[in-house]
Amino acid sequence: MIAPDTGRRAAEGERRSEVAEPTVTLSRSGSVGVITIDNPPVNALSQEVRIGLLSALEQAELDPTLVGGVLRCAGRTFVAGADITEMDAPPSEPTLPTVADAFERSRLCWVAAMHGTALGGGLELALACCGRVAEPGTRVGMPEVTLGIIPGAGGTVRLTSLIGAEAAARLVTTGKQIDAVESRQIGLIDVIAEDAHAASLEIAGSGGRAIETSPTPRAPKPEFWDQESIRVREKARGQESPIEALAAIREAATLPRAEALQAERRRFLRLRESEQAKALRHVFFAERKAGASLRNVPKAADLQRVGVVGGGTMGSSIATAVLISGTAVTLVEQDDAATARARNLIETNLKASAKRGVISSVEPVLARLSVCTALSDLEECPLVIEAVFEDMAIKTALFKALDDVLPATAVLATNTSYLDVRELARSVRDPSRVLGLHFFAPAHVMKLLEVVRLPQTSDPALAAGSALARQLRKTAVVTGVCEGFIGNRIMAAYRRNAEEMLLRGAQPETIDAAMRDYGFAAGIFETQDLSGLDIAWAMRKRRRLEGKDPAIATISDALCEVERLGRKTMGGWYDYVDGRQVSSPETARLIAEFRDGAGITPRVYTAAEIVNSILAAMSREAEAILREGIAEGPDDIDVVMIVGFGFPRYRGGPMYIARKAQ
Ligand code: 3HC
Repeated sequence: MIAPDTGRRAAEGERRSEVAEPTVTLSRSGSVGVITIDNPPVNALSQEVRIGLLSALEQAELDPTLVGGVLRCAGRTFVAGADITEMDAPPSEPTLPTVADAFERSRLCWVAAMHGTALGGGLELALACCGRVAEPGTRVGMPEVTLGIIPGAGGTVRLTSLIGAEAAARLVTTGKQIDAVESRQIGLIDVIAEDAHAASLEIAGSGGRAIETSPTPRAPKPEFWDQESIRVREKARGQESPIEALAAIREAATLPRAEALQAERRRFLRLRESEQAKALRHVFFAERKAGASLRNVPKAADLQRVGVVGGGTMGSSIATAVLISGTAVTLVEQDDAATARARNLIETNLKASAKRGVISSVEPVLARLSVCTALSDLEECPLVIEAVFEDMAIKTALFKALDDVLPATAVLATNTSYLDVRELARSVRDPSRVLGLHFFAPAHVMKLLEVVRLPQTSDPALAAGSALARQLRKTAVVTGVCEGFIGNRIMAAYRRNAEEMLLRGAQPETIDAAMRDYGFAAGIFETQDLSGLDIAWAMRKRRRLEGKDPAIATISDALCEVERLGRKTMGGWYDYVDGRQVSSPETARLIAEFRDGAGITPRVYTAAEIVNSILAAMSREAEAILREGIAEGPDDIDVVMIVGFGFPRYRGGPMYIARKAQ
């Protein structure tokens, strides 16, 4: 006999009992069968779940008193996809296509009651049902391309016939999630209801008659496929799966259904084994494990207000990030003119964020900002981040002053990129309250946060950093103290290696092109031109004075000496003509002069040589960082380089590549 449905969903964080409970159960509510998946944390479709689904479905089919069924999930979310932990092994029976087909062929009308996120295989299951109901906050999507694969359980075919090839291509080639309202607009879901379970019971009880049949979506114009193919290829930068996803949608739109289903499955199985998919699975789990020691400290309460000292570009951008997260900010600047400038910068950042759809309007977010000129106004901030000029004397004086006016419990964070945080910590009475929070520009856009842990940093200080990362939805990685921390130190090794190749015969444009073709968003020389060559020049001069670097001039120095500082001076490594980046004869001449001076006969570098040389330099530096205990593990290094420095995600990161080659 089928047990009655209680309609109850496990609360967030509620644990299953110690006794192994089935991950799939069948209950009934009147004449409706209710299949509940309960496989925390995200109801992934493991083999056990797939077996349970087929068995529950079979049992429901055999009950002649049932007229319909509801497919629902316990816990925080509807099914978030296939179980990614199973993907390194061969597919196991029953496969997801078998389960989806069984739902589609069932004599009962199944309605998917969705909440949380219905993603990948989860959405594919919902698409195999005859109706879909979602709660208002639900998000749906096909993120398979982000894992180097495409939907493999009929998703491209069912989605295309339901919402049309254009909308399906947009979802499947980008992996983008959309909300319930947009899903309803494009016909992906039938109903939005506060209580998806109750609404689904009603629809299923009517045998599906309550679902309006949507009109057959119109076919795209013939030119759509070529245009879309160019767009997808450009964005993919060498990643295979988005291109394959578009091909699958095209087949779904043009081939007979059965053939399209088979073709999709073949593509899925091939991609599942690909090097890119393996690398992307590595990154998926590495990102979730990142910053391990932040999880081992007792969780701090949410920060209600954060202090920021310094309202220049970086300070304002950090303040913007905090404000967007819903947290209040007290920003301190030297005088009224500087606070007004900071407020303007923040408002400009917020307007741009509103344009990008990150916030719906500027005013309520800006209302959380207080600007002032006295450090004592930071009294109510449990965490204060300094983002003043990158100069040890200035920062030390500020920390001393903060130490005098703030309560002993306040955590002091520095956003320094290169200065020694230990020296800074020595300027306060209790160095255990100091840590580094290294944001990346622009801080309200970039997802990476390096949390710099000193030997003395206390657990509460680390917990405050962790709370901030959580609130800002940043990917936080813990780093020890060294020049450049993890990311900038590895990028410095990349830059040194690239300059060495310049000296030996390569040109900036050949090096940049090789790295772009490898999948980087931009080359190192064009990036330097964008941010300006003078900051690194000043740092090199400082290091030479301190005896940290040999006093040997570089090609970069030669460019800076003739005022070629990048885009801002209309010339750096490249020339800029009407905003267009072009090769620079002047730079080529300076490089040639430098080579002559060093007595070097130039040689030709192939793209493969360039890439291999730079990757080797990056991984050598990364290994040193690991040996010195600066990074907590190799995966964290991969996460830093991918999330913060544009290392191609589908390559897995420098450590992943180095370890694979061993
Ligand atoms: N399989 C296995 N484990 C998964 C998983 C999945 N599909 N999705 C999430 N997890 C695990 C995470 O590893 C994490 O484990 P941990 O606690 O041990 O670190 C835990 O679930 C919670 O995940 P998050 O930390 O990411 O939790 P969030 O609340 O931040 O995000 C989420 C939830 C939006 C569901 C996010 O986890 C996510 O995007 N998951 C992946 C979704 C996805 O890519 N689905 C497609 C899978 S491929 C597929 O379906 C193929 C099919 O077409 C055949």
